[in-house]
Amino acid sequence: MRKNIVAGNWKMNKSLQEGIELAKGLNEALAGETQNCDVVICTPYIHLASVTPLVDAAKIGVGAENCANKESGAYTGEISASMIASTGAKYVILGHSERRAYYHETAELLAEKVKLALANGLTPIFCIGEVLEEREAEKQNEVVYAQLAGSLFDLSVEDFSKIILAYEPVWAIGTGKTASAAQAQEIHSYIRSVVADKFGKEVAENTSILYGGSCKASNAKELFSNLDVDGGLIGGAALKVADFKGIIDAFNK
Ligand code: 13P
Repeated sequence: MRKNIVAGNWKMNKSLQEGIELAKGLNEALAGETQNCDVVICTPYIHLASVTPLVDAAKIGVGAENCANKESGAYTGEISASMIASTGAKYVILGHSERRAYYHETAELLAEKVKLALANGLTPIFCIGEVLEEREAEKQNEVVYAQLAGSLFDLSVEDFSKIILAYEPVWAIGTGKTASAAQAQEIHSYIRSVVADKFGKEVAENTSILYGGSCKASNAKELFSNLDVDGGLIGGAALKVADFKGIIDAFNK
């Protein structure tokens, strides 16, 4: 059966010292608690090597927010999947809408990144989602289909089975506007049907599909109670221990 997951995306926030404090605080808050979901924190690259040894790996997985589309070599400023893995990190966010919009990451480039992440033992958290105009034109299904097809349809069933999907409507990111529980369920169920058609029903049933976009403790329970919403990818509310813990607790009862 698929896992419930609450993953934090710190984005470009926190100095190294602040990041260490946040990771330590979360580790303490979760110690001795029963968790009904996997917890992941995705941090800026420079935090990874410091944060991974600080947290209890049985409770908190650590991930990066991006990786290079090349294995190694003369790519000044880039960080490879193997470098990320060497810090002890286990996850990597790929295809975030901010990377697609501000850094012009294409489906083809993301396909390369996904393959390198998998080859280096990292679990990709692959983000898809439409912008407001596309939602208003009722094109959200087409958009997420193209994003899935463009970057993931070349994978083997075995490789696809290692992927976590995150549906993040761009109009809900950092805006305080969330998709309604019904909107989330509708598109998550569609995404699962796309996976089932391409990779089979069993794979689809085992794929975790997270919701992201202004998710917080006050709305997490309603969103996560949908059959096809298997947790959240959290931005702003991942930057404070109490806020993030409140979302994790949405899975407790
Ligand atoms: P917010 O939770 O800040 O809306 O961000 C969501 C997100 O982009 C997570 O990747």
